[in-house]
Amino acid sequence: MTVCKTRAELRKIVEEAKKNGKSIGLVPTMGALHEGHGSLIAAARPENDLVIVSIFVNPTQFAPNEDLDAYPRTLDTDVALAESLGADIIFAPTAKEMYPSCDDTWVEVTGNITKVLCGKSRPTHFRGVTTVVTKLFLIACPDRAYFGQKDAQQVHIIRRMVKDLFFPLELRILPIIREHDGLAKSSRNVYLSPEERKAALVLSQSLSAAEEAVRGGERSGARLVDSVRAQIACEPMSNIEYVELHTLPDLTPVTEPLNGAYLLAVAVRFGTTRLIDNTVLEVF
Ligand code: PAF
Repeated sequence: MTVCKTRAELRKIVEEAKKNGKSIGLVPTMGALHEGHGSLIAAARPENDLVIVSIFVNPTQFAPNEDLDAYPRTLDTDVALAESLGADIIFAPTAKEMYPSCDDTWVEVTGNITKVLCGKSRPTHFRGVTTVVTKLFLIACPDRAYFGQKDAQQVHIIRRMVKDLFFPLELRILPIIREHDGLAKSSRNVYLSPEERKAALVLSQSLSAAEEAVRGGERSGARLVDSVRAQIACEPMSNIEYVELHTLPDLTPVTEPLNGAYLLAVAVRFGTTRLIDNTVLEVF
């Protein structure tokens, strides 16, 4: 396992691999790796000759009032986990390495897809994500890049960017990994007190109830959103930011009655911790 701190170190390895016809899989992360990331690395291993895991807490996707400084940084355990799952290279650059000058260049997907859901309360977040992901793609030149469905909006925005900018790579999207009781794995779960963690189960429970309602014949998007919102609001420790239903893949407003594939997504605070979760509803 090699840990690269600079673009130059990684470029050398990537160029050598390309010269020898080797395929490259990239798993972009911000570290604090958990089983969700583990599933991405495990999926990348058999599909690529070289598996690169990037670990970079990207400052440009955090607003000044957000948790950039507090974001968990656990490089040693991350390296050990990535190695145990078969990763070949860790790319762990500094902020100076990724943003060497006062950067004026951004890669931004515009339109509804970045305005709804998390884009409403975090208006500069996705611009930071697409800019750093572009930099990572240009440095690592992956044949395949791996992302988790947990960040569903991010996935659809990156998909759009890859399509619009002709990035020559395949996106591989892996399902949400959950704790035994349903809580979606997240690096931010460590912030939750035991009471908040228990309260947060309402997210997966309310989404499962919506899936069940659709299986039972519910075809009203408004009623589904209302019932998820009501179930979460019953949990006194919850503070809802959004419960939204959008069409896939463009995240446009739904029309009734439902017919097609939809993203039902929630963002809710428990204390100071903001959690997101989602499910895809196939309504036919
Ligand atoms: O999903 C994340 O962890 C980050 O948004 C990503 C894709 C690594 C970009 O910093």
